[in-house]
Amino acid sequence: MTKPRILMARAVFPELITRLEQHFEVEHNQADEAWTTQQLAAKLHDKVGLFTTGSERIDEQVLAAAPKLKICANMAVGYNNFDLPAMTARKVLATNSPDVLTETTADFGFALLMATARRVTESEHYLRAGKWQRWSYDMFSGSDVHGSTLGILGMGRIGQGIARRGAHGFGMDVIYHNRSRLAPELEAECKARYVGKEELLRTADHLVLVLPYSPSSHHAIGAAELALMKPTANLINIARGGIVDDAALAAALRDKRIAAAGLDVFEGEPKIHPDLLTVPNVVLTPHIASATVPTRKAMANLAADNLIGFLVHGKPLTPLNPEVLK
Ligand code: GLV
Repeated sequence: MTKPRILMARAVFPELITRLEQHFEVEHNQADEAWTTQQLAAKLHDKVGLFTTGSERIDEQVLAAAPKLKICANMAVGYNNFDLPAMTARKVLATNSPDVLTETTADFGFALLMATARRVTESEHYLRAGKWQRWSYDMFSGSDVHGSTLGILGMGRIGQGIARRGAHGFGMDVIYHNRSRLAPELEAECKARYVGKEELLRTADHLVLVLPYSPSSHHAIGAAELALMKPTANLINIARGGIVDDAALAAALRDKRIAAAGLDVFEGEPKIHPDLLTVPNVVLTPHIASATVPTRKAMANLAADNLIGFLVHGKPLTPLNPEVLK
């Protein structure tokens, strides 16, 4: 019997290909070529499954060229690369990779917060450039993390992980804003207090963004929101590009309307707004919040589990549009 055909949109751990080949005929992309949407669509004409990494846009144009496609498995918790209504209309199952990256991503949120608050990369660049001649009393003074107010916008699993780290590890006063309030026992565990968005913006010393991207969260932080923040505040974005208006942020950083920012995600990444590259008070990382080997392996395996679970056993693990299964 011929095996079902699947396509890997990007290079992955070689052992994952071996694992998938036990069940499928796999067309892989271990050369990690950057396919255009048209190239991806053309490769999908005979495939029932697709492994994506969160960067490949799956919309009506792609789906129309993929009549046999039954599932797209994202190796990412965020899935704004999927046009979910279009996938549901075509009865294509979408899956993501939640939970396995929660703690690793919360670790990174904190790493970026600390690097931003304590000007780690800016001072390292200074040192590497040979500019450090002697110690001085105000050299690279940053902001305190311990005992300060941690604001979290978006209080899902990762937001809660950041709250726990801040409250229990650094004695921070944690406030959050979210579409819905956490259950009282979760608020108590995270030592987090629910506030309105305006109070969050006005009060936070460190504001961490962890909300999913959708048209309603587009530019959730723009010029008006930045203007409400303290001039001493730091902004950390580990959520998605587009949630922050990067041009407005670069202007606020340049004019010192807020102290600093730490950004792992960007509008239109991997392109970076040119003004962000010229301001010193920003720490920039290339979308690596979940990047540890064990976590990336767990994410890749969960995407593979979804492909095998659905295509072989009829049971995906983490479906996003389960109505397709009915
Ligand atoms: C990474 O950004 C993810 O959504 O997993």
